[in-house]
Amino acid sequence: MAFYPLVRPLAFALDAERAHRLTIALLARTKPRLPPPADPALAVRVAGLDFASPVGLAAGFDKDAEAWRQLLGLGFGFVEVGTLTPRPQAGNERPRLFRLVEDRAAINRMGFNNRGQAEALARLAGPSPGIVGVNIGANKENVGGAAAIADYAAGVRAMTGVADYLTVNISSPNTPGLRALQDAGALDALLEAVIEARGAGPPVFLKVAPDLLPTDIEAIARIAIDRRVDALIVANTTVSRPHLRSPQRGEAGGLSGAPLKPLALARLRDFARATHGALPLIAAGGIASGADAFERIRAGASLVQLYTAMVYEGPRIARRINRELKLLLARHGFARLEEAIGAERS
Ligand SMILES: Cc1cc2nc3c(=O)[nH]c(=O)nc-3n(C[C@H](O)[C@H](O)[C@H](O)COP(=O)(O)O)c2cc1C
Repeated sequence: MAFYPLVRPLAFALDAERAHRLTIALLARTKPRLPPPADPALAVRVAGLDFASPVGLAAGFDKDAEAWRQLLGLGFGFVEVGTLTPRPQAGNERPRLFRLVEDRAAINRMGFNNRGQAEALARLAGPSPGIVGVNIGANKENVGGAAAIADYAAGVRAMTGVADYLTVNISSPNTPGLRALQDAGALDALLEAVIEARGAGPPVFLKVAPDLLPTDIEAIARIAIDRRVDALIVANTTVSRPHLRSPQRGEAGGLSGAPLKPLALARLRDFARATHGALPLIAAGGIASGADAFERIRAGASLVQLYTAMVYEGPRIARRINRELKLLLARHGFARLEEAIGAERS
């Protein structure tokens, strides 16, 4: 039975952050179900990890790792928790999350609100029914100085034991100065420290912004390859404002959802060109269907992630995209998803 069409008007009557809190609280109280049976055609191996499905839940949905087991049970091939900072922090003043319903989009300026790594660590301990990534950031007061790098290194050390992979997030637009870590000199120093802190730990992914210029992209790709980052996530929310219709379009923050799609796809193609197969790519930004996922995979992504589409489409979205992807692969003559990665370039 389609349950979400009935619930959505109730959820949308609430303030967006309150609705989100309620969703997480309800999920966390539900007994986790085992993930639905995986289709072998959708299996992908990235950075030494075996993903049963290429469709993941992006960071920010389950910041404090409260409901990741339940979210894996919805058919996501992986769930990325966080962004988690070493110490708890409150984030920006509310309201800070806005639905742009007419645009199937959201604007957020959360500012890394989270309860800190130690608390999440306890909730991530124990057996997992799937792949869990931990997205890490720096505490606000440390951004802009050497202490930022120390925060990332501390995050890596703290979360290594519970993460299947770690994501270094330097692309959120809501912590002033954070995105300057994408500049070549800062990025090289950051990645050196992170990779050293990781030691023999899990793969490290780097999450970038969709608002980068071509010269930034070349530099980031080169440094990520040289520092042996394991994958790039392209991309976070945008500070740009494509044409939007919703009354909330003037809110400050990062834009996600459907209007981000062309920009995120263009950046993915830029990074595919710049990395020429040397690094796996993970696509995020406006993905809402099997066709969207397939387009990113053909453009060079090995995996995809989504957040905003789940707000509009509900908890069945991962299963639907898996189903649609399987059909699209067959229609285009691919026996397995891995054959379709980067197919538009070859
Ligand atoms: C409310 C909200 C909070 C987010 N928080 C984070 C975060 O803490 N860390 C992060 O790396 N990305 C965060 N993101 C970005 C998403 O992970 C994703 O990169 C972006 O929303 C684009 O995907 P989408 O269009 O499918 O939402 C957040 C997005 C939203 C909408």
